[in-house]
Amino acid sequence: PAPLPAAGLTITITAGPTREALDPVRYLSNHSSGKMGYALASEAAALGARVRLISGPVALPTPPGVERIDVESALQMQGAAEAALQDSQVFIGCAAVADFRPAAVAEHKLKKQVGEEQMQVHLIRNPDIIAGIAEQSQARRANGQPAPLVVGFAAETRDVLRYARDKLTRKRLDMIVANDVSTPGLGFGSDSNAATLVWRHPGQANDRLHEQAIAACPKIALARAILERALA
Ligand code: C5P
Repeated sequence: PAPLPAAGLTITITAGPTREALDPVRYLSNHSSGKMGYALASEAAALGARVRLISGPVALPTPPGVERIDVESALQMQGAAEAALQDSQVFIGCAAVADFRPAAVAEHKLKKQVGEEQMQVHLIRNPDIIAGIAEQSQARRANGQPAPLVVGFAAETRDVLRYARDKLTRKRLDMIVANDVSTPGLGFGSDSNAATLVWRHPGQANDRLHEQAIAACPKIALARAILERALA
């Protein structure tokens, strides 16, 4: 039999939401289901890759053959992602990372006071995990060291392609998966998705962007299309 297209490769994928603790019993998070990241992990394993799935809290089973690393916060996800940089040939950031976290985590459960009708929570910016990975990847490449191809996602409700192209350049990604999350039944929480892949070739920063539209399809089919492009 022909060798599987991803045999011998290590692919690291972040998936799901992050949880940012306020106190020992409360957190800020989002509605990411993790389905897209898990579909990518499942397909990458089926293509023969060694797959490391860095996952926020989700209600999904670990796909067969996938090494799963559970994390909660953005800072934990960043730590796991950076530890995976050296030995990965592809890094896919699919997680819905919280942009901000509470500036301080209370040691004990916050108690409401009698008559307290408002409270304020001070948030600070989380690191941009994929931008950090892409920056290190570009630096390694410039030094002739092996470095992963970095693939990000851009979920937008308008001007999808414009924001995606901006994000590709600003975060120094090799490829971005742009999807319109305003379409009912697609994207967030759904089993289906439609997207446009936007990429440039590594090391050719000023090269023109390439684009490929993928019509609405099950997330597992979109995952296959993303991986085929990343491995091309
Ligand atoms: O900027 P925005 O959140 O729209 O970018 C989305 C892309 O960046 C996704 O690939 C997501 O996983 C990644 N990201 C990240 N760390 C953040 C925010 C986003 O890795 N703090």
